[in-house]
Amino acid sequence: MRILLAPMEGVVDHLMRDMLTRVGGFDLCVTEFVRIVDQKLPHKTFYRLCPELHEGGKTPSGVPVRVQLLGQHPQWLAENALTAVELGSPGVDLNFGCPAKTVNKSKGGAVLLQYTELLHDIVKTVREAVPAHLPVTAKIRLGYEDKSLAVDNAIAIDEAGASELVVHARTKTEGYRPPAYWDWIKKIRAHTQLPVIANGEIWSYDDARRCQEMSGCSDVMIGRGALAMPNLALHIRDNQPPMSWPELAQLLIDYSGYEIYGDKGRYYPNRLKQWCGYLKRQYPQAEVLFDNIRRLQKSDEIVAVLQQSAAAAK
Ligand SMILES: Cc1cc2nc3c(=O)[nH]c(=O)nc-3n(C[C@H](O)[C@H](O)[C@H](O)COP(=O)(O)O)c2cc1C
Repeated sequence: MRILLAPMEGVVDHLMRDMLTRVGGFDLCVTEFVRIVDQKLPHKTFYRLCPELHEGGKTPSGVPVRVQLLGQHPQWLAENALTAVELGSPGVDLNFGCPAKTVNKSKGGAVLLQYTELLHDIVKTVREAVPAHLPVTAKIRLGYEDKSLAVDNAIAIDEAGASELVVHARTKTEGYRPPAYWDWIKKIRAHTQLPVIANGEIWSYDDARRCQEMSGCSDVMIGRGALAMPNLALHIRDNQPPMSWPELAQLLIDYSGYEIYGDKGRYYPNRLKQWCGYLKRQYPQAEVLFDNIRRLQKSDEIVAVLQQSAAAAK
């Protein structure tokens, strides 16, 4: 079984990837999307979104990180895909799932799921540009407004030569509302030879097993669940119990050490408050923590609150 860390724009950046892959259990990460419109982007854009490219395309704990591209023009996507792999990305992933309005207006992300032929052309053109030994992968939802093209889209992506496919088992219209329709992944698998990775609504060991059973996939990708329980990958793999609150508080304190990369010192306070939103699903203490730090703007004040919270729980 492989477990992939999901791309999450504005949330799972290189620091979060480092943190979560240090905790362990992940086989591969995918970056936030690089938006491609009508030009070849400078190297610095790729390095900014994926600083791991400076280190052979791996997190400090050695987990490969694949660059994700989003766009609608096959040729521009292909040229930028080539740049990504030349800079050291272990393949490229194509985003056909993003529901954001701004992105869909300029015809990128999930909106493309309405245009099966275009999906095919994009994957084929990118596949031809990227050296054959490096994977070209795609990430889709089940459709834009309905699921009528789910199987056709997967077949088109397969025939265009993709190496594997992640399926987030919901349409764009279904957004992030439970449930995820894992049984639809099985339908897709019945029509393609493409290795498929199941994604959506996996929050626990039991969810992962049910998803595997209903989708027929052994590999899964996890996103929000890994933020709610940072050792979710190990929990799924080995049934390791969820990290305790004191352990988690220490992890959150360690994250403050990354401040040096932050933008004028606001990175840590902002990201920690955002992270609390995910953590409270698994840890009631995160709700209290959020109330205690919501007005704080300085990292050392937040760390002091975390230290108290960890000490109180011991
Ligand atoms: C805040 C946020 C940002 C996301 N950004 C991306 C992205 O950049 N690329 C992408 O393919 N999917 C993106 N997704 C979708 C996730 O990768 C994933 O498919 C989705 O969250 C379902 O998986 P989960 O239930 O495990 O979270 C994003 C999701 C969220 C919640």
